[in-house]
Amino acid sequence: MTVSTRFSAPKGVPDYVPPQSAQFVAVRDALLRAASLAGYGHIELPLFEDTALFARGVGESTDVVTKEMYTFADRGGRSVTLRPEGTAGVMRAVIEHGLDRGALPVKLRYSGPFFRYERPQAGRYRQLQQVGVEAIGIDDPALDAEVIAIADAGFRSLGLTGFRLDITSLGDDTCRPQYREVLQEFLLGLDLDDETRERARVNPLRVLDDKRPHIKELTAGAPLMLDHLSGSAKAHFDEVLGHLDRLGVPCTINPRLVRGLDYYTKTTFEFVHEGLGAQSGIGGGGRYDGLMAELGGQQLSGIGFGIGVDRTVLALEAESVAAAPSARCEVFGVPMGQAARERMVTILGDLRAAGIRADMAYGGRGVKGAMKAADKSGARIALMLGDRDLAEGTIGIKELATGEQRSVPLGDIVAEAGGTHA
Ligand code: HAM
Repeated sequence: MTVSTRFSAPKGVPDYVPPQSAQFVAVRDALLRAASLAGYGHIELPLFEDTALFARGVGESTDVVTKEMYTFADRGGRSVTLRPEGTAGVMRAVIEHGLDRGALPVKLRYSGPFFRYERPQAGRYRQLQQVGVEAIGIDDPALDAEVIAIADAGFRSLGLTGFRLDITSLGDDTCRPQYREVLQEFLLGLDLDDETRERARVNPLRVLDDKRPHIKELTAGAPLMLDHLSGSAKAHFDEVLGHLDRLGVPCTINPRLVRGLDYYTKTTFEFVHEGLGAQSGIGGGGRYDGLMAELGGQQLSGIGFGIGVDRTVLALEAESVAAAPSARCEVFGVPMGQAARERMVTILGDLRAAGIRADMAYGGRGVKGAMKAADKSGARIALMLGDRDLAEGTIGIKELATGEQRSVPLGDIVAEAGGTHA
């Protein structure tokens, strides 16, 4: 005797099932659309890559690399990692395919699952979904503003309003090393526990991101990167702010903004939604001017963002905004009898060919059961077809919201059903 086992999805890994999956698809597609309106071409990347790509690209001392990667040896003994983020893979592909030798900037958009072994909680998953863009090869503040405005427009096109955009500059390689020293000196002068002291040594900026109240208090007077920007980094940042202002994209300068990935330089930003609790970052990104060279490519700049699709869906829920129509179909067939059933199958084919979403009652249910299915389907109209209709060459159209019914010639059904198409 075999004992049957019920399986569940792995911990922290969401399924996307109807009807909620419609919202997921609507969010992903709206964000991708905002990117294609600005000329970003689609790139589809492998779900796993050489482990060293992420270690080098994302940063050896980041939480993502030290604690969160799904890394394993494949059957050939190579160390591979499920992609924790998209930017390193995009850079690898751009270099490998020589896109950086063509017209610049290279503008790319992508979407799909990413994998991080984090502690699962509301809005934090081990398989998360992102839509991202990267614009590579031109260091122009107007391009920074474009990237940020795409994310802003994507959110707004969904009807989302309760979010803010935090922005700062992390400086460039002419001012960051000096700032790092100043900050480190400040931090090492504080009364810190061993672990935090070690972090101050390895990655001092990360200490400014510490959420513990006593550390926040201790670091309240820490020197800020924004006060130590080089002339050119400052000019770049001011220009970005000017463009955003002209584009009507509101933002808040947050000099203590720290991102979890190490490749950022200059403009850095995060979209934060007020209604989400602890996991409030719905998207983030910035410039990464040293990344391509770090990965063996040319010395080219880049800027991009990653938006969390899951968190954007939660943000819409928090605002009670429905981004997707709830109806699975517009038209639902209710055949009465075998001949009507056969005819209904071809009618559905005609409706679908005309772009009308159509479904019918399968399984030989009686009229009552079939009408119940029609009501549940969310369709606007039911098509009522029985032997008498067939003999007369007609079909009944029932408005499901009002119960109103009329009879039309069978040959007109596509035009008639399409006519009720809102
Ligand atoms: P990130 O900030 O690590 O950036 O992730 C981007 C977004 O993905 C976050 O703002 C959040 O909405 C979502 N996200 C991250 N982790 C999780 C999780 N465990 N569960 C649910 N959602 C999550 C990047 O990944 C960069 N590659 C973005 C970028 C592109 N920077 C420049 N270009």
